[in-house]
Amino acid sequence: MSFPKTRLRRLRYNPIIRELVKETKISVDDLIYPMFVCTGENIRNEISSMPGQYQLSIDNFINECKNVTRKGIKSILIFGIPENKDESGKIACQDNSIVQRAIKEIRKQNLNLLIIADVCNCEYTNHGHCGTIIDGDVDNDLTIQTLANQAVSLVKAGADIIAPSDMMDGRVGLIRTALDNSGFERTPILSYAVKYSSAFYSPFRDAADSTPSFGDRKTYQMDFANSREAFREVEQDLNEGADMIMVKPALSYLDIIYKIKEYTNVPVIAYSVSGEYSMIKAASQNNWIKEMDIVMEITTSIKRAGADIIITYHALDIADRLNNK
Ligand code: PBG
Repeated sequence: MSFPKTRLRRLRYNPIIRELVKETKISVDDLIYPMFVCTGENIRNEISSMPGQYQLSIDNFINECKNVTRKGIKSILIFGIPENKDESGKIACQDNSIVQRAIKEIRKQNLNLLIIADVCNCEYTNHGHCGTIIDGDVDNDLTIQTLANQAVSLVKAGADIIAPSDMMDGRVGLIRTALDNSGFERTPILSYAVKYSSAFYSPFRDAADSTPSFGDRKTYQMDFANSREAFREVEQDLNEGADMIMVKPALSYLDIIYKIKEYTNVPVIAYSVSGEYSMIKAASQNNWIKEMDIVMEITTSIKRAGADIIITYHALDIADRLNNK
């Protein structure tokens, strides 16, 4: 049928009808909030390239976790900023390392909070790369050993989900075996399977103090020109036992999110990364855009593209918006 019998505007006049026919809705249940925990006491350092995001010492971190749950957000992703770094990031495997200590403290609070621990060495190596350097590049097979140790230690501390973000080959399989051998066969692995080498991560590297001191991450993270390669990454990680798959970044990769969602039946998580956040913040501080309108539009687009779950630094603001605050 065509005009005038068909009038597409009919379903747009009444706001309640518009709400009724809305195809994609964001809920607090879809959101994961990334957080940075550091050593020391009473520290609340605003990250200069990420206004509104903080490095928090454990005391403030706990208070912020309470705030997160009050707003209805149920999941956080933790990154740690340690006091010391070394060549291979071994410090991240110690049971008293910063993230392990933070997790143990949160657990004491009995909050209704799912704790996802990022597993990577880049915050813990003195050169800022995601693993052990041999002959000027990250050595795959040595690095995955340290990642497996780090994962077991984080789960022992109380992490609910392990999220390896390093992009080494074989790490999901090794981590799965290590967890199973330690009696943690129930702990899911959320694999950063499709992680591009991206200029969108630079504010995060300020936040986590993980900028590589030489070179870049192009020998392990994916080339942003590639999309078929994403299927190979997903296939590999699922074969090795990944329970959930991540695509990262999100906004410039909606096509990848869409394709991966069509391709696989496991939950697809999209990470709306630091640079995506910082660009919105900068533009809104200049009053060039309406911050929360843009945030809702972009976040909805990520879900509409196929993401089941979205990791976003805007999670608390989205929760306020959804709660009409
Ligand atoms: C660690 C890691 C990074 C991010 C998440 N985990 C940085 C990187 O790979 O350099 C980026 C997150 C963001 O930009 O918000 N490997």
